[in-house]
Amino acid sequence: MKNELLQDLLSQMSLEEKIGQLVQLPASFLSEGNLTGPALEMGLSRQDIRLAGSVLSVIGAEKICRIQKEYMENHPHHIPLLFMADIINGYRTVFPIPLAQGCSFDPGLAEKCAAIAAEEAAASGIHVTFSPMADLSRDPRWGRVMEGTGEDPCLNRRMAAALVRGYQGEESGPIGPGRLASCLKHFAGYGAPVAGRDYNTVELSPRTLREDYLPAYQGAVDAGCALVMTSFNTLDRIPSAANRWLLQDILRREMGFDGVIISDWAALHEMLAHGIASDHAEAALKAITAGVDIDMASPVYCRHLKELVEKGLVPVSLIDEAALRVLQLKNRLGLFENPFKDADTAAEKEKLLSPAHRAAARECAEKTFVLLKNEDALLPIHPDTSIACIGPYVDNRLLDGSWSFFADDQDTATLREALTQAGCRASFAPGCSLLDPGTPLIAFQKKVSPDTMDSEQALQEALALARRSEKVILALGEPRDFSGEAASRADLSLPDCQLDLLRQISAVNPQVIVLLFCGRPLDLRPVQKYAKAILLAWMPGTEGAHALADILTGRAAPSGRLAMSFPRGVGQVPVHYAHLNTGRPFHGDYRTERFFSKYLDIPNDPLYPFGFGLTYTRFAYSPVVLDRTEMKKDETLHASVTLTNTGTRAGTETVQLYIRDVSASVARPVRELKDFRKVTLNPGESREVTFAVSESQLRFYTLDMHFASEPGAFEIFIGSDSTAQNCASFRLTE
Ligand code: GLC
Repeated sequence: MKNELLQDLLSQMSLEEKIGQLVQLPASFLSEGNLTGPALEMGLSRQDIRLAGSVLSVIGAEKICRIQKEYMENHPHHIPLLFMADIINGYRTVFPIPLAQGCSFDPGLAEKCAAIAAEEAAASGIHVTFSPMADLSRDPRWGRVMEGTGEDPCLNRRMAAALVRGYQGEESGPIGPGRLASCLKHFAGYGAPVAGRDYNTVELSPRTLREDYLPAYQGAVDAGCALVMTSFNTLDRIPSAANRWLLQDILRREMGFDGVIISDWAALHEMLAHGIASDHAEAALKAITAGVDIDMASPVYCRHLKELVEKGLVPVSLIDEAALRVLQLKNRLGLFENPFKDADTAAEKEKLLSPAHRAAARECAEKTFVLLKNEDALLPIHPDTSIACIGPYVDNRLLDGSWSFFADDQDTATLREALTQAGCRASFAPGCSLLDPGTPLIAFQKKVSPDTMDSEQALQEALALARRSEKVILALGEPRDFSGEAASRADLSLPDCQLDLLRQISAVNPQVIVLLFCGRPLDLRPVQKYAKAILLAWMPGTEGAHALADILTGRAAPSGRLAMSFPRGVGQVPVHYAHLNTGRPFHGDYRTERFFSKYLDIPNDPLYPFGFGLTYTRFAYSPVVLDRTEMKKDETLHASVTLTNTGTRAGTETVQLYIRDVSASVARPVRELKDFRKVTLNPGESREVTFAVSESQLRFYTLDMHFASEPGAFEIFIGSDSTAQNCASFRLTE
């Protein structure tokens, strides 16, 4: 429909009908016509539900077509519903969690996976995904680190843009067949909760918000994301859904976002708990004034906006603008011409979990694993080697991550099944349960009944198996529901029963390879101590176990690099590479020196740094060569290295370029990732890798909060992770 016809439609709508477009109902309210308990509790009437503009978490082509048909027949203007859902790392074919995808350092791969997720979800009738989650986070206590792509603004920005392109296709055009509208979330700064506790206060200076947290959101906006979701947290003591500065001055005016702003689940209602609204009427006033278009899963807008307009407290123009943006979104999806869009039961059967989609999931998983240790080249495992595969993840299918509730766990192979299908000479024993016996975790127990094995008997069986095998694969980790929303942890250790198993197994057979399944960086000091090899598998998705078999047997080589630092323990958190130098930087021995920015009991650096990862070969870097040592603002500097595969197998290196602004009007990070390139070389092969560095990459928020570069000295580091010492210097002149 032409946009001007939308204006005509809007002009024919009553105030109630316009407000209806600003209401999003949870799936539970759509119980086939009659009002559900929650709807009644929220004080919604049948008319409220009849006029709602969107619903969330309803899936399935047949069901969605039936609901859409009924709704349009009953709607006074026959306006189609929007169907939204959380398609975070896949719909029915589940890809590795986003934090793992960040470790691929391959935005093109993430884009491909998002496009497949969109194709599957669109066939099931969904129009909008609440993704990408672009919240930068440097705190592994926060369970939702699994949902973002890590600690770095540059990597996150490219990943967020890639996911939007994968979901939507072209930046600003219609959202066509097999595509979803993308909702960027959670705006803003949700990844920095105090103490790593979900939904907690966020304290960021405006400079840090802009330098570190906004770039990823900007990447999604520049890629044309159709919606933005406000975050639960306060920023400067103002909840985002009531933060006019954040939503109007920053998001719309500075960042250029012109789409729909939707609240997170009942965030308008939560203003009462935040203590910034005394009742729902005040919450409605604050949210519509701040610029929230859609009220997700709360009665605030549909019960109070009409009265606020009639009392002259809210200009009807605000309602018109918000309703028009929702209608424009429906129009961008083509719903006025085809309200069912891609919903098609035949397409569902053909597309969901298709062999091509499974193959893509396997390829993606292979590229997300990070090899953290490989002493004595314990990996890859020769086909003739006898293997003891032990641990609570031997038979666990819950490998999809906590945001994969539209998938079926039965679609996922276990490690046992994958290694057996791969023809490995493997024998299997769980060895212990996933949690310390008796650990109460209601969500976990609902999904996976704790193993009832006799821990002593299980341990003895595992030890016996380890004794008679050449190598041991120990599959350990945290349960799937230990990460994700509302899953913060104050302790980053593996469960004691798993650490006990590790110690005892390594005592009878030191050839131990630990596979680690988790949704966040953990404290791996004991694992580093007792295992000769460590392969980080994250939550690898539907084809994750098969991809692991490919890597373990050497059919593929690991190429992942850490998108988030692994701390030496929770006491270091937040620990990340792009930190400021402080006035007392420390690089010595923490046990002997004092009066520096350091600890008495552990080193400052993480156990495994951002950008780190091994493979089955080795790479050598030549010194960094610059084509100039002075650069004017309108010039481009080229930095090159020659990379050589000095090992015996082909491998893929992620060459990383970091910049340091040595002296500026404000303190600058000791390093900042500015570019990266994946390079695959055969044994003995060399290749020159050249990066172009422009003045725009040197800009930051200066003392006066202008986004600009400043003349002076810079250092360039090019290497295989954020600790690279391979360095060259240059000066930026006027
Ligand atoms: C949740 C999450 C958000 C999700 C929304 C809808 O509370 O914070 O990320 O998209 O509700 O499920």
